Amino acid sequence: MNGVALLVDAVTVEFGSFRAIDMLSLAIDFGEVRAVIGPNGAGKTTLLDVISGITRPKQGRVVFGDRTDIVRASESEIARAGIRRKFQKPSIFEGLNVRQHIEIGAQGGLVRTLFGHALDQRVDEVLEAAGLSGLANRPASELAHGQKQWLEIGMVMASNPALLMLDEPVAGLTDEETERTIALVRKLRRADRAIVVVEHDMDFVERIADRVTVLHEGRTLFEGLMADARANERVKDVYLGR
Ligand SMILES: Nc1ncnc2c1ncn2[C@@H]1O[C@H](COP(=O)(O)OP(=O)(O)O)[C@@H](O)[C@H]1O
Ligand SMILES: [Mg+2]
Repeated sequence: MNGVALLVDAVTVEFGSFRAIDMLSLAIDFGEVRAVIGPNGAGKTTLLDVISGITRPKQGRVVFGDRTDIVRASESEIARAGIRRKFQKPSIFEGLNVRQHIEIGAQGGLVRTLFGHALDQRVDEVLEAAGLSGLANRPASELAHGQKQWLEIGMVMASNPALLMLDEPVAGLTDEETERTIALVRKLRRADRAIVVVEHDMDFVERIADRVTVLHEGRTLFEGLMADARANERVKDVYLGR
């Protein structure tokens, strides 16, 4: 499968009189891993909020696959269409174990018809891929920070999303944990899936992303290869040079 997975078209988001996203347009292809980078306050999380239906833009369109505009769709409609997101802060359910979290992740989305043995099998696959098989029965609240990040990625993987968004997946991880996350993100790449990653760790970004979009004050400052972003004077001025 090829072609555009997600088209963000002339989107503007305002909070009161403050413009967090300013006539932003970008297109992400199926099969692609796209990093969205930029300084704090650039609008990265707000962009993910728009795509996931949490924040309504003042104007613009968001088109997913060959579907129509999803900009007015509800969060649950968007999730059912196969758009899933790992949030910046891990959201762990107190009292539930690791396996139960993955089961919740598998509900809805593109595998919503799974139950019984098929669901168990899917959950086992995801636990294995996320490196959490040995922790399946552990209360999720007892996991280390890195393991919680993998659990969250496992929860989004479990629904077999067509568009997967990861907000700061390696923040606070050790180098070794970051290596494992790189391997996990590479496993998630598929020709019929698009992956969007927001992250400040530029070495991580360079190793997983096909292209980067640099946001600054709600607009695209640069789009292209990470190596070219590093060499770009404007990108250095507002973000990488500091
Ligand atoms: N709900 C909100 N109300 C008011 N301002 C907000 C809200 N969410 C984000 N902002 C502002 O919008 C700008 C972009 O925020 P955000 O998208 O979180 O940036 P990033 O993720 O790139 O650090 C920031 O200046 C932030 O303070
Ligand atoms: Mg953010």
